[in-house]
Amino acid sequence: MNDQSLSAAPLQTALIATSEAVERILTPMLAIPTGPEARVVECMRYSLFSGGKRLRPFLVLAASELFGVGKAQALRTAAAIECVHCYSLMHDDLPAMDDDDIRRGKPTAHIKFDEATAVLAGDALQALAFQILSESDTHADPSVRVELVSLLAKASGHSGMVGGQMIDLTADGHNLCEAEVYRLQQLKTGALISFSVEAGAILGRASPKVRQSLQYYAHDLGLAFQIADDLLDVLGDADVVGKATGKDEDAGKATLVGLMGVEKAARQAQILADQAIEHLADFDERAALLRAVAHFAVNRQN
Ligand code: IPE
Ligand code: IPE
Ligand code: MG
Ligand code: MG
Ligand code: MG
Repeated sequence: MNDQSLSAAPLQTALIATSEAVERILTPMLAIPTGPEARVVECMRYSLFSGGKRLRPFLVLAASELFGVGKAQALRTAAAIECVHCYSLMHDDLPAMDDDDIRRGKPTAHIKFDEATAVLAGDALQALAFQILSESDTHADPSVRVELVSLLAKASGHSGMVGGQMIDLTADGHNLCEAEVYRLQQLKTGALISFSVEAGAILGRASPKVRQSLQYYAHDLGLAFQIADDLLDVLGDADVVGKATGKDEDAGKATLVGLMGVEKAARQAQILADQAIEHLADFDERAALLRAVAHFAVNRQN
């Protein structure tokens, strides 16, 4: 990203700029060591630098812009959340979990490397995220850094992403009611999306009222985003989506698509995206990209 503000650009340009900026900041953090531990760093790089929409880093940057947060600070938090996200994908793809061979159009990490390396690389990406957040370059105020660390820990762990993944793996899709599926999705996917948006408010020391509007926005966006992911599993073209499709039903996954059918789930995703945008009513044009990304979340092809 150059010196221009993110919000001046259309969404696609802003996503590309986010991706470039995140890769620029992460590359020197992942210099390949000379010893045999090089392999785990190669796997971390493989996972991090293999494309992806960079939605979560984008949300950190776009939310940070609302409060005039310095770009360098916002970028470090953006890089941290992408580390956690990539770790979650690497573990999600393992044979013990979803057993997927293709991710972002390329062999998954455990296929390219091996399972043990993919487990370790995921662990190390998670650790790196917290290292980044804890360092003083992320924010001059240690209490802000601690708040980021604490919120990301909660969003990643048993009461966030990991908890949701546990429910996802153990649930029999046919036995969960709508509210239970929403809870599962809020945990496995919504929690990290909520962190991304809220991080902007933390870095910018936003008022509780403003922060709550952003929490409501992120809540609805996260649910809409996961419904769209589940719809792509049914409707998407694997080459375009960049991962195998048609798997969720066979695996007995609990999804809203499975519960209410494609049409109703698609309508629900649109309603949630519109609702997310309504929570931004108090923001001016600076929230234009956050509004645009809510539409993107449900209309995307991958
Ligand atoms: C995929 O996330 C996993 C979900 C939580 C649905 P993304 O669709 O954001 O994956 P990338 O980062 O763009 O590959
Ligand atoms: C994964 O959900 C959510 C994570 C926490 C990684 P999915 O299992 O549906 O994600 P994809 O479809 O493999 O990307
Ligand atoms: Mg999964
Ligand atoms: Mg999966
Ligand atoms: Mg999926």
